Amino acid sequence: MYLCLCKGISDADVRQAARAGHTTAEALIAVLGLRDEECCGNCVDNIEDFVRIAETVTAEREDDLLVSIAS
Ligand code: FES
Repeated sequence: MYLCLCKGISDADVRQAARAGHTTAEALIAVLGLRDEECCGNCVDNIEDFVRIAETVTAEREDDLLVSIAS
């Protein structure tokens, strides 16, 4: 699913950024270049969708950690 048409950023790109530690709105805007000069910036209005997707990666990591602790 594309979240940013200007840059062709998909949910997979957001998850990849989250795995690299970029999970806040500000961090995602910066690392994905959503305010670059050539961008329209419209997707920034939906940055909370980006954050929610990034948070799924954090939740998956926590689940993995709990499984490894329990085993
Ligand atoms: S749609 Fe993301 S910067 Fe234009």
